[in-house]
Amino acid sequence: MITGNEIRARFLKFFEEREHRVVSSSSLVPHNDPTLLFTNAGMNQFKDCFLGAEKRDYVRATTSQKCVRAGGKHNDLENVGRTARHHTFFEMLGNFSFGDYFKKEAIAYAWEFLTKDMGLDIDKLYVSVYTTDDEAADIWHKQEGVPRERIFRFEEDNFWSMGDTGPCGPCSEIFYDNGPEVGCDSPDCTVGCDCDRYMEIWNNVFMQFDRQPDGELVPLPKPAVDTGMGLERLATVMQKVQSNYDTDLLRDIIAYIEKLSGKTYGDNDENDVSMRVMADHSRATAYLIADGVLPSNEGRGYVLRRIMRRAMRHAKMLGFEDPVLFKTATFVLEFMNKAYPSEAARKDFVAKVVQNEEERFIATLGNGLRILQEEIAALEKTGQKVIPGETVFKLYDTYGFPVDLTADIVEKDGFELDEAGFETCMEAQRAKAREHWKGSGEEAVSAIYKKLVDEGIKTTFSGYEKTEDKGAVLALIKDGVLVDEAVCGETVEVITAVTPCYGESGGQVGDTGNISTADASLRIIDTKKPLENLFSHVCEVVTGSVQKGAEATISVDAERRQKIVLNHTATHLLQAAMQKILGDHIKQAGSLVTPDRLRFDFTHFSPVTTEEIIKIEEEVNKQIRVNAAVKSDVMAADTAEQAGAMALFGEKYGDEVRVISVGDYSMELCGGTHASAAGDIGLFRILSEGGIAAGVRRIEAVTGDGALAQVHQQQQALQRLANLVKAEPAQLETRLQKLLEQQKELEKEVEQLQAKANADKSGELVNQTQDVAGVKLLAVKVDGVDGKGLREFSDQLRDKLGSGVLVLTSTEGGKVALLVAVTKDLTSKVKAGDLIKPLAAIVGGRGGGKPELAQAGGADVDKVEALLQAAPEQLKELLG
Ligand code: ALA
Repeated sequence: MITGNEIRARFLKFFEEREHRVVSSSSLVPHNDPTLLFTNAGMNQFKDCFLGAEKRDYVRATTSQKCVRAGGKHNDLENVGRTARHHTFFEMLGNFSFGDYFKKEAIAYAWEFLTKDMGLDIDKLYVSVYTTDDEAADIWHKQEGVPRERIFRFEEDNFWSMGDTGPCGPCSEIFYDNGPEVGCDSPDCTVGCDCDRYMEIWNNVFMQFDRQPDGELVPLPKPAVDTGMGLERLATVMQKVQSNYDTDLLRDIIAYIEKLSGKTYGDNDENDVSMRVMADHSRATAYLIADGVLPSNEGRGYVLRRIMRRAMRHAKMLGFEDPVLFKTATFVLEFMNKAYPSEAARKDFVAKVVQNEEERFIATLGNGLRILQEEIAALEKTGQKVIPGETVFKLYDTYGFPVDLTADIVEKDGFELDEAGFETCMEAQRAKAREHWKGSGEEAVSAIYKKLVDEGIKTTFSGYEKTEDKGAVLALIKDGVLVDEAVCGETVEVITAVTPCYGESGGQVGDTGNISTADASLRIIDTKKPLENLFSHVCEVVTGSVQKGAEATISVDAERRQKIVLNHTATHLLQAAMQKILGDHIKQAGSLVTPDRLRFDFTHFSPVTTEEIIKIEEEVNKQIRVNAAVKSDVMAADTAEQAGAMALFGEKYGDEVRVISVGDYSMELCGGTHASAAGDIGLFRILSEGGIAAGVRRIEAVTGDGALAQVHQQQQALQRLANLVKAEPAQLETRLQKLLEQQKELEKEVEQLQAKANADKSGELVNQTQDVAGVKLLAVKVDGVDGKGLREFSDQLRDKLGSGVLVLTSTEGGKVALLVAVTKDLTSKVKAGDLIKPLAAIVGGRGGGKPELAQAGGADVDKVEALLQAAPEQLKELLG
């Protein structure tokens, strides 16, 4: 039996032997492509090659691409595990031609690989072409000898698009007949039927257009080929099994789950579903996290969290009480190590993220079940039998309850779900999610830049060596439109043939500076890099007018640049130092390098302690003093990876990469600008450390002048404090300790004096007791106490009074505080709460309380006397 690994290797070799460059799978996180949530096809990483916006040194490529399709219109998460072919994660084998070969060759290659290399039975194969694609149909028939009746034509199914926009074209698919026994009973069952009988295994897309946001199909510069073959599907055919889950690619994972759970696959339908869900979702979880996605409540992280929670629910249904997904995800990375070695190297990190999420979810699950039970109890009272859509959605969204699970749980009580209501909430959420990840900072590359690149316009970046350079103004963009001129006072984007200005990318902010031409001077507010090799200066025209075609001198604000440079090199040292001190799981999860400070986000699971912070700061400063030279080398990506260069999660790198090394301490792939030696940084200081998301933390730090300024600020603050207590900074601590002790003693003394004064005073006050219908009433004003003080007083007075009624007021802070107390023996005659009401009303307040004690506040300080005078009258009334 041929294994999945062997099929993958044979495919790549087949195309390598036919002059295709074997390119590694790109990350599951499509970078610089806001139109995609996850990498969903082999062609994603070549999108710009198809569009002609990017040139590489090869025109044919082949890949085995990690793909995730989840939450999109074609993949309902709920189906995964219940059918033979649905997946969240799958591998797509592909061959690509960028303006090189087209239909004839693509069809020949596919046919040769399937029928010769894989030895598939020709009688079991069918093909389809786009409705009007006679050319493709002829090639199948005349070139490959496929009988006409085996060539089907479809419209929608034979036109493939990457998304709502981007490369697309008619396609031609190859189907394998799994035999009537797996088919449906319909007499019309044939190629194109939804059942499992005629399974699509290969798709040849003849890329011809770039679909615009308005739907217009703009022809590509050169027709191209993009193919995709589902590895899992071909493995099903080759291994003569009926479900993708029975191929070794997934069955070995299921076997591992069998071992952990002690249950046997095939014994029980529901358990089988759970095992398939766990197997599939473990793959998606492992590779999404290895590619830098972390579970969260928005965008990509949100989809990942849903996948993980669904897997965890099924783990629970299989009887797992403790975290287990972290084990199956680790197993997946080890199992597929050969095909994806760099992801396997991150297995410790992946395991930590998954386990952390599992522990959180176990707590959440209990809460969700409680909510559901409350809802059921409430509905039962009203006799209703439908769980509202909002509740189903809340459980789904907040507590990770798959809808089918909610349905399962409530079914035994005779409930059903308001699915339409749920769908409405879901659609709103989808819209929100789309908005969220569009807002992630990746802006769609506007068509205008693409047009410029198509016209051959590009910028050479000279800023690694220079801070001033000369070049022609190639284009001017004003308010999103190309113009020939911009005048004094206007804001305009200036694209020049050469620039020393760094365009914002890789976390480093864009440069500022000046542009001058014979007729104008411009201030550069920011520099951007909307496309590889295209730099745009955002400028204000300060004097004169600037024309397209003018010769310009472009200069960088060198002082600002130098600050950026120090912060950038320090960021590299920081990452290396943190890996050394905290461990290899530290990975960059984001960074921002500005002139004022650097921000470094990293993966770590507990707060970094003060001691660790000090150690890291010391380590970085030690490396600064070692003063190793900073070197940059351009090398092949493979060479860099072998040399151990740190690559960013999910970052897209070309074949050639730039590697920045600081001595032999740090080595990173990076396109930024750097100091010439570590010593230039001078001083490095950490400002803050804190968590920003589950498993992700952030450090902010300063360098050079900025670090020195920070030291000075702290020193001055210390001096000011020392001055306040008339001490030297060195004595500040002892001095403050002493002051605090003194304060404690004074507080004690005050308390004792206060108690004595209160006692004296209450003795005095008791003398003012009056008799109201045989009941002792003490109605007095106590100065200098608040509501709490009144309560203390009332305790003492009550003791002294023995039996009676107290009405105490005070006027602290411009407000009236009122207290009424009644000794226990009298509460049957009069209640404090009843007496306080009319009295509080006099001072414009309201109050209430228990029979023995009531309190109130009021605003009319002037009415306090009136209140006290009214007290006997009111009491009398209540006493009847
Ligand atoms: N990009 C094509 C697909 O995904 C090959 O089917």
